[in-house]
Amino acid sequence: MSEREFRDYSPKRDREAVRRVYRECGWLDKGKEPALEALLKGSRAIVAEVNAEAECVVLTARGTMRYLDEDLPASFVTGVTTSRVARKQGLASELTARCVARDAAEGSLVSCLGMFEQGYYDRLGFSTGGYEHWYAFDPAELTLVAKPRAPRRIAADDWKAVHAARLRRRRVHGGCNLSAPELTKGEMLWTTNGFGLGYFDGRRGALSHYVWCDGKESEHGPYTISWIVFRTREEFLELMGLVKSLGDQVHLVRMQEPPGIQLQDLLRQPFKARQVTERAKYETKLSATAYWQARICDLAGCLQRTHLDGEPVRFNLVLVDPIESLLPKRTDWRGVGGEYVVTLGPASGAEPGKSRSLPTLKASVGAFTRLWLGVRPATGLSFTDSLAGSGSLLEALDEVLRLPEPKPDWDF
Ligand SMILES: CC(C)(COP(=O)(O)OP(=O)(O)OC[C@H]1O[C@@H](n2cnc3c(N)ncnc32)[C@H](O)[C@@H]1OP(=O)(O)O)[C@@H](O)C(=O)NCCC(=O)NCCS
Repeated sequence: MSEREFRDYSPKRDREAVRRVYRECGWLDKGKEPALEALLKGSRAIVAEVNAEAECVVLTARGTMRYLDEDLPASFVTGVTTSRVARKQGLASELTARCVARDAAEGSLVSCLGMFEQGYYDRLGFSTGGYEHWYAFDPAELTLVAKPRAPRRIAADDWKAVHAARLRRRRVHGGCNLSAPELTKGEMLWTTNGFGLGYFDGRRGALSHYVWCDGKESEHGPYTISWIVFRTREEFLELMGLVKSLGDQVHLVRMQEPPGIQLQDLLRQPFKARQVTERAKYETKLSATAYWQARICDLAGCLQRTHLDGEPVRFNLVLVDPIESLLPKRTDWRGVGGEYVVTLGPASGAEPGKSRSLPTLKASVGAFTRLWLGVRPATGLSFTDSLAGSGSLLEALDEVLRLPEPKPDWDF
């Protein structure tokens, strides 16, 4: 077997090799190198060297995830790639596990990522979040009547203001913020014919609300709104009015449904549009895909900041965490597997141990993360995921964990 070594990314030594890895994965088109540079600058990277060249690279970045009213320190896996010559040697799994472990040891309570397929990151304790809705619609069919003000253009050079406004946007349960502005810069540079339109109603004329779009087919679309930023109802409706104003020329716009909003409310005859445009280039369509994953990295830390309404539920938790098998023997953080006494309620917590008088829940860390986040209730998870307990315990958990759907509202 070839020699392999894991170490921190060094821009001087690894830049070209990492570009090659990204190119071989089909993620780096000619001219997009500055986007990758920005992503690397906003992240922390570890590479696996095979025969003295970086052939696998994993990136993570710091940020927060909102749990009800609390912002929890979080780590985000922003890139996992292995070159064509180093596949299936366990490099990406091991490297990702190490990055998660390092960030957890440094205080991240949760870790999140966007998956390429279900199953791969489950081996590291990650589990699937809720469905995200992406709506493709004819902007001319928006029912809004109010005329928006003329917006200002936003370009990639405005990345600092764009990022700052993004961090200040309206966020709900599950809402994620990635801290480094370079990550937003990278995303902006990665879009094709990217452009933004927005308004500067913030303090001292700061950017307040905007859309950032991918305009690959710039004449008639489809346009993709990569993300939309707003703080209030008025700002949201103004931006949707702006999208509508493009409808004389652009036949299709795709956007992610913002948390708590049902976009179909704003569309005229959505069923007719879907049928009339079926299988066409400008097809009106609503799709739902669950593509983000998360895992708890510090059980006591997460539960300490979990404040739920209703009667407290106390139980033994037997938690299985598969990440341990991918970590070297001597790592500070080795996952969260073990036995705990857990309380969920207005004051929640987890202590190591078990109590004979309490019922027991057995779960994988992934299934427990989904339960805690409110992706699905305990009873439903007991049907399809690794989560088992008595009927009365599962029902009590359904009762106390009545949470809004978690919505990261940030694709990482
Ligand atoms: C995904 C990728 C990073 C994996 O890299 P790698 O170094 O070959 O991965 P590993 O060797 O650690 O893991 C491969 C193992 O995972 C398994 N695996 C792959 N997909 C899986 C899935 N959906 N569920 C379960 N296991 C899976 C493989 O079967 C393989 O197991 P085997 O070696 O026993 O056959 C690599 O294929 C890649 O760079 N792809 C393009 C970029 C990409 O999609 N990155 C992921 C972004 S989220």
